[in-house]
Amino acid sequence: MKNIIVAGGAGYIGSHMVKMLSLAGFNPVTVDNLSTGHRDAVLYGDFEECDIADSVRMGRIFEKYNPSAVMHFAAFSLVGESVEKPEKYYRNNVTGTLNLLETMRRHACDRFIFSSTAAVFGNPDYLPIDEKHPKEPVNPYGRTKLVIEQVLGDYAKAYGLKYVVFRYFNAAGHDESGQLKERHSPETHLIPLVVQAAKGERAHIAVYGNDYDTPDGTCVRDYIHVIDLCAAHLAGVKYLEDGGAPEDFNLGNGSGFSVKEIIDKVKLVSGMDFKVKTEGRRAGDPASLVAHSAKARRILGWQPEYIDIEDIIKTVWKTA
Ligand SMILES: NC(=O)c1ccc[n+]([C@@H]2O[C@H](COP(=O)([O-])OP(=O)(O)OC[C@H]3O[C@@H](n4cnc5c(N)ncnc54)[C@H](O)[C@@H]3O)[C@@H](O)[C@H]2O)c1
Repeated sequence: MKNIIVAGGAGYIGSHMVKMLSLAGFNPVTVDNLSTGHRDAVLYGDFEECDIADSVRMGRIFEKYNPSAVMHFAAFSLVGESVEKPEKYYRNNVTGTLNLLETMRRHACDRFIFSSTAAVFGNPDYLPIDEKHPKEPVNPYGRTKLVIEQVLGDYAKAYGLKYVVFRYFNAAGHDESGQLKERHSPETHLIPLVVQAAKGERAHIAVYGNDYDTPDGTCVRDYIHVIDLCAAHLAGVKYLEDGGAPEDFNLGNGSGFSVKEIIDKVKLVSGMDFKVKTEGRRAGDPASLVAHSAKARRILGWQPEYIDIEDIIKTVWKTA
């Protein structure tokens, strides 16, 4: 059985990936320092509590498992925090990743799948956003991810690194069995927040701005189900195993939904009513962000299954 290192496998997306890898016949080896992840979310494969920046211990892990590839989800990803504490973000997301890449080189492991983000694009010039869209991130979080994308290009040329970059738009949804959940603390993602309001766990849900240039005035985002994201990663492993060249892919489901639409859908799915308060715009929120994912469909043969936002929300409500 091939071992695949899943850095950040105790987190929201990583824990779903670990399950999918295991069901697909790989042995996932989670490497996680549990800074934002949960030990009990790692239900399959091996677990090593370790920081990716710890080159000595990471070296031992590579010797022990001789991984055929590395999937790298381990990062900090709160935009607001990255503005207040850029050093924390550059240290973990950039230095940590450089150390991980260095450990891979030392152990002749040359397949790498990287979790990047729509935040590398900044304010969109056009929609939907394809891979060629200018990359001008407007916050330190986005810049840390763009730096690594550029590092990967240079390492591919100089050292023959084989990599795939996936830029996620808004990851959403849960494993339908209810085994795995989104458990960020603090939670900043819209769907889990609205579901908390529907469960009566928060007094109201705040809508930041209703005067954007969108059909109902609230921000529009592209929500991609976590299972569809993980399926793309699995296709990425196969692509690299088949000798595919380094590539970058935007992953979204291609449809935008407004904040108001999400709130209305959660009310519909849950049958619950709750307070909605409109507040002022937040700095740096673009009106709309929608992905163009045709490249992933064409090259990887990837096809998202959760197209309907109601189905995505149901997976969260059902297991909430
Ligand atoms: N969730 C989204 O909507 C979204 C969107 C775009 C990109 N991403 C990217 O996807 C990845 C996963 O996101 P998530 O939502 O699952 O986040 P998460 O916080 O739930 O998971 C990250 C995991 O990485 C671990 N980790 C962090 N730094 C580490 C280190 N130095 N060493 C070892 N482990 C470390 C954490 O403990 C956690 O388990 C991140 O890289 C994030 O930037 C997420």
